Amino acid sequence: MHRVVVLASLVLLGACSRSEPSGGVASAQAQITPEALAMFKMRCAPCHGEGGHGDGPGAAALDPKPRNYTDASWQKSVTDDQIKKTILYGGAAVGKSPNMPPNQDLDGKPELDGLVAVVRSFNGK
Ligand code: HEC
Repeated sequence: MHRVVVLASLVLLGACSRSEPSGGVASAQAQITPEALAMFKMRCAPCHGEGGHGDGPGAAALDPKPRNYTDASWQKSVTDDQIKKTILYGGAAVGKSPNMPPNQDLDGKPELDGLVAVVRSFNGK
């Protein structure tokens, strides 16, 4: 009678395979915040237009005209970093018209990413 009862110690190692909640596919895309939208209307729309067509009231006297953000080929040609640099340091810093003013007070502020998102949102509209 050597029945060895092996008490199978059911070690329920709950196979800690808790997968990362991969919702959102980690796109680093900045969000359009209300603050950024308000800032766009105040600081950018006067030249670039509420609809991003580069036709704000301040655009009339400008040559070259403010960038038309709805231009899909322009959108494709610039990186977010280039847009940020233009916003922060102005047109002169990126070889463009000095009439595009710098906004160095936005350095490190969330509104800077928000403005990039606003600019991107006009793509193809
Ligand atoms: C006084 C008018 C004026 C204001 C205000 C202004 N811009 Fe511009 N912006 C321009 C002009 C003019 C250009 C075109 C420069 C060129 O093509 O040489 C331009 C170009 C740009 C470009 C395109 C640069 C490129 O790579 O072609 C971006 C992006 C831009 N502006 C963003 C902004 C944002 C965001 C704001 C608000 C924070 C703003 N601008 C405010 C006049 C303005």
